[in-house]
Amino acid sequence: MFFDKIVAAPADPILGLTEEFKKDTRPNKINLGVGIYKTNEGNTPVLKCVKKAEEIILKNETTKSYLPIVGTPEYGALVRELVFGKDSEVLAANRARTAQAPGGTGALRIGADFLKQQNVTTKIWISDPTWANHFQVFGAAGIETAKYRYYDKNTHGLDFEGMKASLAEAKEGDAVLLHACCHNPTGIDPTKEQWEELAKFCAERKLLPFFDFAYQGFGNGIDEDAFGIRTFVKYNQEVLIASSFSKNFGLYNERIGALTIVSADNETADRVFSQMKISVRSNFSNPPAHGALIVTTVLSDPELRAMWAEEVKEMRDRIKEMRELFVSKLVALGVKHDFSFISKQYGMFSFSGLSKEQVAKLKEEFGIYIVGSGRISVAGITTSNIDPLCKAIVAVL
Ligand code: LMR
Repeated sequence: MFFDKIVAAPADPILGLTEEFKKDTRPNKINLGVGIYKTNEGNTPVLKCVKKAEEIILKNETTKSYLPIVGTPEYGALVRELVFGKDSEVLAANRARTAQAPGGTGALRIGADFLKQQNVTTKIWISDPTWANHFQVFGAAGIETAKYRYYDKNTHGLDFEGMKASLAEAKEGDAVLLHACCHNPTGIDPTKEQWEELAKFCAERKLLPFFDFAYQGFGNGIDEDAFGIRTFVKYNQEVLIASSFSKNFGLYNERIGALTIVSADNETADRVFSQMKISVRSNFSNPPAHGALIVTTVLSDPELRAMWAEEVKEMRDRIKEMRELFVSKLVALGVKHDFSFISKQYGMFSFSGLSKEQVAKLKEEFGIYIVGSGRISVAGITTSNIDPLCKAIVAVL
């Protein structure tokens, strides 16, 4: 037998939770595990700008022929403009190249494969904590992983000194994975001054920055959220960025993202691009068209682009509102524990500080699903589920 030695894998800490949630027959169950935006009615609708773009695409589409290995040049250019801003020196010098990828995860993976196959680096430093899949993605590509300190559980803030102390142990040539905004799972981002310091730190120590940019627009704004990356490219000539349009376009199941690599000059960028093509070709040959057509159509049409920015703002504002409400409801319920830090976090998630045992109790006794680390998807809180949620949290504290 070939497979009799195979050991069953544990369920995925995030997507496995959704599978469990679906099987739960309790009518009042609440899923705050996976990072999916919900309206106050508890739906994840298709954005209006996306629907409009799809009408245009359906009318004008003439072929289902293959896309280029790295996607279309139009898509790549729009992604780069979103990441670096129109007036970026990186764009003027034409020293960045973009490959379309299946979601942010696909972008991370082709980036990891590129780094490994081209012997660019052998090790990447990843924040502790981080998105549950990061270690797996880089590990699968054969890149060694190490952790750097990030979260201070006493202050519920960034352990900036600890972060620098950990990264001081990195060797020249190591890569560093950074969450460009809305750190997953903590919701804690560096300040502008800290980004500046980190950018110089990585440049001086010759560490290769690799950004995971999955939540552009969910923190402070579409351009504002790119501050870290735009600061880094001022000091670091070589940078990788994995973009995702799952959240900010609501295109979760279209699997649409991009890997952008910045090189020192245009000629190097061409050589890098030729190798990026091999990473794509050996993984999934060439990308699917629909999600990229949507993003391209929306971003290149001023009216649709404005509509998109407005819809992203709506999502961002609703999450912020839920953060405030969450904190005030807990206070109203007489909770002694200070949860005010939740309203200072950015993005879809809140790192609640709840223990594994408390998380397990929430699931078993109340049908409330959150990630084992205590990460709550604030984007899934509504005015209908917030009361039972807060009462249940009070009961398990
Ligand atoms: C999450 O962190 O919940 C999302 O990024 C979804 C996923 O793929 O894990």
